[in-house]
Amino acid sequence: MKTVLAFDQGTTSSRAIAFDRSGTILGTARREFTQHYPKSGWVEHDANEIWESQLAVGREVIQQCQLDPSEIAAIGITNQRETTLLWDRATGEPIHHAIVWQDRRTAEFCDSLRDAGHLEMIANKTGLLIDAYFCASKLRWLLDNVEGARDRAERGELAFGTIDSWLFWKLTGGRVHATDVSNASRTMLFDIHTHDWDDELCELLKIPRSVLPEVFPSSHLYGETDPELFGGAIPLGGAAGDQQSALFGQNCTQVGMAKNTYGTGCFMLMNIGEKPWASKCKLLTTVACTADAKHQYALEGSIFIAGAIVQWLRDGLGIIESSAEIEPLASSVTDSDGVYLVPALAGLGAPHWDAYARGTIVGLSRGTTRAHIARAALEGIAFQVADVLDAMQQDAGTKIAELRVDGGAAANDLLMQFQADIMQIPVVRPKVLETTALGAAYLAGLASGFWKDLDDIDDVWQTERVFTPKMAPAEAKHRRDRWADALGRARSWEQ
Ligand code: G3P
Repeated sequence: MKTVLAFDQGTTSSRAIAFDRSGTILGTARREFTQHYPKSGWVEHDANEIWESQLAVGREVIQQCQLDPSEIAAIGITNQRETTLLWDRATGEPIHHAIVWQDRRTAEFCDSLRDAGHLEMIANKTGLLIDAYFCASKLRWLLDNVEGARDRAERGELAFGTIDSWLFWKLTGGRVHATDVSNASRTMLFDIHTHDWDDELCELLKIPRSVLPEVFPSSHLYGETDPELFGGAIPLGGAAGDQQSALFGQNCTQVGMAKNTYGTGCFMLMNIGEKPWASKCKLLTTVACTADAKHQYALEGSIFIAGAIVQWLRDGLGIIESSAEIEPLASSVTDSDGVYLVPALAGLGAPHWDAYARGTIVGLSRGTTRAHIARAALEGIAFQVADVLDAMQQDAGTKIAELRVDGGAAANDLLMQFQADIMQIPVVRPKVLETTALGAAYLAGLASGFWKDLDDIDDVWQTERVFTPKMAPAEAKHRRDRWADALGRARSWEQ
């Protein structure tokens, strides 16, 4: 066996990456797909376009590396989490666009759940706060708003899935309707203590159990691909939500180890071991993935907009032509000249949880240039991460020694240095920045015997660069105070 393939189905692109036994990338392919914004605060994806783009990059990487399917030990899936889809079991056709994790259409319904006093029960069972971010309210919206959906669901004709389930279904020609524990833990329907769907939650949210997929460990043989897709059957060896996959890919398998991934959003996760406990600072408790069927948990701070603000500067504001331009542009000035950009384009996630916050730029003057705005946008990403780190340290009752980073924007030296400066702790960047995909490759490789055990993959993770804080503590504090002020102005804007 030469390789393990990771299918990394993210919010803005589908990617396929082939890894060898040393964790070296043999080939990679990527395709962006369409984002649909039917109304303010709504975000949708066409699930067929997701499937076609994922299939295309899978084929492309197999061709690029000149692989025969028999040389591929397994495929591991990692995916944008919480994005919610319902499809017809007989035709395999989605009944509506997928509702993306960033979508805020169910914010008022979530308010009503909170007002009715369900917060504690839901937090105790799921480890989550009540928010439009998670699948449950989106699934209920689909059942209530797509004509005939509820009746069809009651008759057992519809299947619900996050994107991992959708890909399993398509890859196996409709033979597998399954998800893994890490994705299930993001639905707000899953009990993270019993590792099963919860009847009380299904009843409260009016979700028929018949639509739910079967849940398995993250590292598990789920089935085989339809032989027609890649010219031969390939085992499906695992799945994990992209953030839990990155935690695993960063080797954060010991209590207290933390990582932050800079993708469309930013997601900081810290391993908390085998017993789940609840945050006092509005962080989530979520199921982490493991090499076996043992349970591990993580504390998570989810930030909704990070890399997406760079996309917005490119596509919305048009002040850069490509995302790569942001670093040289932001580096062309020494600071943001007092400009603060709060990237709350989809509300605010952890630790503020304000679905009604909106993006805000303050401190503009006649001297402000696009370079200052670009710099303020990058700094806005880092300030949000620092707020989550504070919450995590407060919860853990101890300082986090270092933060491992990955994802596209982790390649941005300016951002990483500012991140270390503003948090006043070292930021550690590994050699392989594709740790989300690497995590999924590990899971599939361990299930299929490509790697024997965790010791076998221990030396794959290596440091590329450590960013140590250079900013004086007083200056970092001053900037964070100004940020807090700007953040206050972005809050509750839509209410
Ligand atoms: O919870 C949403 C997250 O899984 C999306 O990740 O990498 O697509 O921004 P990403």
